[in-house]
Amino acid sequence: MKSLWRDDEAALYSDPLSLRAYTSRLLGREPSLVLHGGGNTSVKTIVRDVLGDDIDTLYVKGSGRDLATIETGDFAPVRLDALRRLAELPTLNDTDMVRAQRSSMLDPSAPTPSVEAILHALIPLTYVDHTHADAVVTISNTPEGESRIRDLYGDRVLVIPYVMPGFMLAKTIHEWTRNVDWRQMEGMVLLHHGIFTFADDARESYEHMIRLVSGAEDYLDKHAPVQTGSVTTRKNLIGLARLRRAVCKAQGEAMVARLDAGDEAVSFSLDATAVEAVQGGTLTPDHVIRTKPAPLVVGDDAEVAVNTFAGNYRAYFGQHATAALTCLDAAPRWAVWPGYGCISFGHSVKDAGIVADIAAHTRPAVRRAEAMGGWTPISEKDLFDIEYWELEQAKLNKSNRVPSHQGKVALVTGAASGIGKACVHVLRKQGAAVVALDMNPLVHEIFNTDDCMGLVCDVTDDKGLQLAVDEATRCFGGLDIVISNAGIFPPDNYIAEMDTVSWDKSMAVNLTSHQRLLSFCQPYLALGIDPAIVIIASKNVPAPGPGAAAYSVAKAGLTQLGRVAALEMAGQGIRVNMLHPNAVFDTAIWTDDVLASRAAHYGLSVTEYKTDNVLGVEVTSRHVAELASLMAGPLFACTTGTQLPVDGGNARVI
Ligand code: NAI
Repeated sequence: MKSLWRDDEAALYSDPLSLRAYTSRLLGREPSLVLHGGGNTSVKTIVRDVLGDDIDTLYVKGSGRDLATIETGDFAPVRLDALRRLAELPTLNDTDMVRAQRSSMLDPSAPTPSVEAILHALIPLTYVDHTHADAVVTISNTPEGESRIRDLYGDRVLVIPYVMPGFMLAKTIHEWTRNVDWRQMEGMVLLHHGIFTFADDARESYEHMIRLVSGAEDYLDKHAPVQTGSVTTRKNLIGLARLRRAVCKAQGEAMVARLDAGDEAVSFSLDATAVEAVQGGTLTPDHVIRTKPAPLVVGDDAEVAVNTFAGNYRAYFGQHATAALTCLDAAPRWAVWPGYGCISFGHSVKDAGIVADIAAHTRPAVRRAEAMGGWTPISEKDLFDIEYWELEQAKLNKSNRVPSHQGKVALVTGAASGIGKACVHVLRKQGAAVVALDMNPLVHEIFNTDDCMGLVCDVTDDKGLQLAVDEATRCFGGLDIVISNAGIFPPDNYIAEMDTVSWDKSMAVNLTSHQRLLSFCQPYLALGIDPAIVIIASKNVPAPGPGAAAYSVAKAGLTQLGRVAALEMAGQGIRVNMLHPNAVFDTAIWTDDVLASRAAHYGLSVTEYKTDNVLGVEVTSRHVAELASLMAGPLFACTTGTQLPVDGGNARVI
């Protein structure tokens, strides 16, 4: 591990707090030191208050803040003497500790101080850095962990056995270090938990961390080198969708599933000893709030495996819980699937990604520990105490307002423009992970984030369409919502002079491609969560116009396809509904020229033409998309095979 300190960057930070934030970010840039909110840092300084008094102050990381992105405002300023006096109390419960820390803050609007604030206050040096360095924790999570750490670091480092973080840890360290000369030390290893370093200088404290962790990495390379050969990965997308559904059922809500089928994940999944060992517990205690104590091991039957996991989890709760606690959901957060890789689950792609990162750091740690005699993290009871510790649960920041498509996976065709593009935006806003298909290569540029993937695909190309549907399932673990939207509006063409190429193309895009899409999606939707298809048809179905046979006939056929699909798929719980938009002008179908000529044809101005419906409103892509999203959601749970206009009211239809 290399020091990322740069004199030119550091020179930008003149005061202790901004320098503190700078070296904290350096720690945060290295995922093998801290992951997603792990670790904490502090600086001691003097703050002059409004009365002109100089106050010894600890600026400590706010609880739940991320070192990778931390700024000065993410630190809580707390009176140092108050924190140190708290350490003298014989006991202090969590609620009182948080209250006492908050009431000792110099700025009441600052974030809640880290649960380790008292410990930071006790260390008498200016800068204190704390990480959960993989290498250090891995060595300590072995049967001879303590003696290995002592051999590695000698007298430079204090070694503290595992104690529950928070007040008890601070108190214990306070008692044990009354006669310790902290200035003779570079750091402190908390077995099974992490490492502290400290110094009066920001760079020195940071570089102690880098040096000590590098020593642990070298030790591991010597005693337990990582071995990942190349492996043959198997593929089973139906199996993946089935597993996701079983996990969502156990959880009670929709979740996305991210499959890691990389060499390392597959190799781990095939290492029966490591898979057995990882059941022993997490790499560092606070991972448990994200990952549960252990992953699911997938067997031949996903549902049986998930039910067994849930039963074991409830037994674990029953064994360790006191009466006041409520059991969390019993679904796994990650799974090992022998031969296929590892899968992480989350209510959002971001959450699943956090779990995936933790799992990716845990796996090599377990295998290395196994090479050094075994994986021995903290006991199950200690892990339980962390998982159900109110101060850890608070970090998850649970919100009561759940968007209607949270954890769902959606696929939208014709997504680069108009109605399709609006559907992608609305579905994402409602929490879905979306795969956006379009033949226009722009789709990949418009939608290219972790939770929304643009795929270039001509829906009339059967092979390409099947691949895209498979890719959607592979990417997010299943399929729940399909918006079958791609369409074209051929130029006016009367039946007598029908341009056969135009006719055939309209049939291919506006009708046949939708049948193919439904066929390809059905096996996955059958394993989806409240699965739904919304077909974007047209007002032309109930109210056709002359000159548009190629379009109207295809859309009428599409509507009939949707009705038959509603009948055929109901047994699998898949709802199929249709929307009939009309005159949606913020789309590429309606160029300015077409708009002007159609308006002139009816003797109207463009503005009059745009609102030429019984309500006199202008229908936008957004209106259509909101309704499509609603149709795919719980409000339409009891509706299938229906056709809804979204047209401002059309006198011919009404
Ligand atoms: P749009 O032209 O803005 O969007 C259609 C999208 O579909 C485009 O991005 C296009 O590249 C894509 N597309 C076309 N052929 C494709 C193919 N073979 N493979 C993949 N992608 C393809 O038009 P708009 O209005 O958003 O159209 C969406 C749907 O709404 C269509 O089915 C259309 O018939 C229907 N509709 C539109 C109305 C309107 O007034 N805009 C009224 C009634 C229905």
